[in-house]
Parts: sequence; structure tokens; C-alpha cells
Amino acid sequence: MTLPDSITRIQLFNTDEGKSIGLSYFKERGYLETTIREFGLGYAPNTKDGLTKAALKKQFKEEHLKLLGLTTRNDYDFFRTRVMFSVHNLSGKVVALAGRIMTSDKTQPKYINSPESEIYVKHKILYGIYQAKTAIRKEDECILVEGYTDVITLHQGGIRNVVASSGTALNKEQVRLIKRFTQNIKLIYDGDPAGINAALRGLDIILEEDMNIRLVLLPDKEDPDSFFKKNGTEKFASYLKENEKDFILFKADHLLQFAGNDPIKRVEVFKEIIQSIAKVADHMKRFTYVNLCSTLMKMDEQILIAEVAKVMDQNLKARRIQENRDRLRANREAASNVDFSTDERNDYNLPVIPVAPRITGDEFQERDLARIMICGCDKLYGENEESTVGEYLVTNIEDSLTSFENTVYQQVFSYAIDKMKKRRKLTPTGFHSSPE
Ligand code: GTP
Ligand code: MN
Repeated sequence: MTLPDSITRIQLFNTDEGKSIGLSYFKERGYLETTIREFGLGYAPNTKDGLTKAALKKQFKEEHLKLLGLTTRNDYDFFRTRVMFSVHNLSGKVVALAGRIMTSDKTQPKYINSPESEIYVKHKILYGIYQAKTAIRKEDECILVEGYTDVITLHQGGIRNVVASSGTALNKEQVRLIKRFTQNIKLIYDGDPAGINAALRGLDIILEEDMNIRLVLLPDKEDPDSFFKKNGTEKFASYLKENEKDFILFKADHLLQFAGNDPIKRVEVFKEIIQSIAKVADHMKRFTYVNLCSTLMKMDEQILIAEVAKVMDQNLKARRIQENRDRLRANREAASNVDFSTDERNDYNLPVIPVAPRITGDEFQERDLARIMICGCDKLYGENEESTVGEYLVTNIEDSLTSFENTVYQQVFSYAIDKMKKRRKLTPTGFHSSPE
């Protein structure tokens, strides 16, 4: 089962509307025809079901179109008046489509994606990996950017080892995908506070996988696409060389500047940096960071070593507890009549004694609601798709928000309510790019 990206390509190249709206848009962005074809770009027309009908004519099955999200339950086109981007998996199969809006309608999301399906598991996909994998191996480095257009512009400009996490926060599976080709990741982010925060958040996941991370911040208000267009290949490449920073040192420097001389803030920053160093699996590398950070933080090296060791020990304990819990959950599922759970106070090296599960109030529900809010806030909801999942959740939860047990999940909803009051669009990306 494959997605009909050929259908959107035909719309782009062979219809008047596609040519005058879609193709001229891509040409204006500077994309050559070879690039448009290599990345499987296309167009979805301004019709109720034009794309669906075109796909049916080409022998695509209706149930597949629905399963893959090209056609809605009501037989309408899911994508309308949008330029289309194909999302390929590692072996070059189109597993999803994304559509960028062509109008300036601020009530609509800028990008929409076909929903997850048996062939499209979002957190396992990196946009551009198919086109980039050979170059990643050759350069022994993977450049990570935020958007579809960043990937395409750099690729066309000869910087081909580029992928994007496209709206989702970088996760373990994606890092592991990169790790198949290289140990080195270079993050390129916008230099504004939201960009820096987003970059700092990706850090620990990458460290845990024992990868080397460097960071390049672009001047404020630039993304790789716009910055590349202003500067061209050579200047862009030399900007990367001159401005790349080791990530942990960047983080330390950045946070310490922010803390200034406030002792309480400095302690918080120390803890934060120690957490990151403790994630570095390779001990030579870890020691080098301890050494460099002790200078940066003006802290005795021995103390830092002891603190890092303490955190590593805590992390190990937490991991063992989690492993035990997972194992028991599997057991529990196998023997569904017997109720097991781990005791958190139990030492991880000792045999685990099954005890009755402890349910801690409403936190589970709160976590689920927050997860649905973040992942699905911009998805359409209702029989006639009359509202978004975000709006639906806010309407139903606003009244009980003050009684939330977990303040983090509470903040997720406060953020959403605030956005809606200001009539701003809610997107999954917004949750992790908003300043705390
Ligand atoms: P241009 O405006 O065409 O240059 O697009 P861009 O790719 O630079 O977009 P932007 O910087 O606004 O966003 C960066 C990336 O975040 C995009 O490429 C998308 O992957 C993702 N993104 C942005 N807006 C949305 C949205 O409304 N919904 C979803 N699902 N993803 C989005
Ligand atoms: Mn852009």
C-alpha cells in the first residue's frame, strides 16, 4: 500500500490551477523541477473531492485513500488548496503527505499532515532521511533543521545531509534512525529564545544515545531556508563552521549568563548541567565535560565529579525501576487475573515483590488529556469536523482546571486556553516552542 503522491504531482504539473498556484509558488521559492520531482512535491486543488476522484480514476482504492487520510470519512478531500510535500520512509516509499496552506487564512493551520496509519508512525520518521542518508554517511554528520522547506532548500543548494523532525519534538526513535548513519548531529536553530529553548530540549535525548551534538544558531528571525537564500552555499557553509558550538558547553554558557550572580538560580543551573553531563555515556567524553564545565561554572572538579556520579546513580535506579515495572506489566498482561506492581522503594537488584498497584489520583487521566491536547490540538473533530480537538478539550476541561493535581499538565491547558482567548492558532509545535 503506497500513498498516491503521483496524484498530487499530476495536479501540480498538468492542471491549470496546479500550475498557476502550486508550481508558481514552488518556482518563486527557487525550487528547480528536478528538486520538485526528487522530493515528490505536488498540489491539492480547491475542490471538494477532485483529488479523491483523480486517485480513484488511477485505480487507488477508496478504503486505502481513507486509511491513509487523503479522503475524509465523508468522501471529501482532506487536503484542499495546498501545496503538497511527500514524506518518505528510509527506503523511499511515500508514507505520508503534508500540505502547506496557500491562503493567508490565519484560522487554518499552516501545515496539515495525513494522519498516522499502519505505514506512517510519525515519531519514527524524519523528513528528508531518504534523500539525505547517503550524504549523512559520507559527511559523517547529520544536520537537523525544523521545517520541510529548510531541508529542500539546503539539499538543492548542495548541503544534502539534512533532515527535519517536522513539527514534532525530536525523540529517541528519530535519534536512533540517525545513529544508523552517523554519531554526529548538528542542530541548526533560529537564534531567538523560542529556538534556543527548543534546541535545549532536544539535547538530553541525543546525549543518552551517545551521540555528539553541535549547535549552530542563526541570526534572529532567520530559518535555514531564508538564511541560505541570502548567503548561498559557500557563505552558509562557512557560517556553520565558524558558529558551531559544542552543545553542553553552549547550554552551560547560555544558562549561566541567564542566572547571572543570583546564587539560587546558579544552583539550579548547576543541577541542570550536571543532569546533562550525567547522560553522556562515554566516560572519557564525560570527564572532558566535567573538566571544561568546572572551569565555566567555577566549581571544584571533585565536587562536580561526585555530583555527576550521584545523578548517574539515581538515573540508573530509576531505569531499573522502570524496567521492572515494564516487565511486571508484561507479566500482568500475560496472567491477566493476577495483579502485580513494583514497589518503588524496593531495591532494583533484589527480586521484586509483587504488591497491589497504587493508583495516584487523577494524574493518569491528566497526563492522557495533556498528551491528546499536545498531539491532536489542531486535528478536526466532530461528525462534520466542525471544531478542533483542542477546542473540544478546552470547552470540556476549563471548569475543572483548578483541581488538576499535576501542575505541568495544568500548564498545558492554561497555555491552550490563553492561545484560544487571543484567537491564536494552536499547533503541536506551539507547546514546546513557547517560552516557559
Ligand atoms: P515556510 O513558511 O513555507 O517557509 O514554512 P516553514 O517550513 O519554514 O514553516 P515554519 O517555520 O512556520 O514551521 C517549521 C516546521 O514546523 C514546518 O516545516 C512544519 O513541519 C511544522 N509546522 C509549522 N506549522 C505547522 C502547523 O500548523 N501544523 C503542523 N502539523 N506542523 C507545522
Ligand atoms: Mn520558512
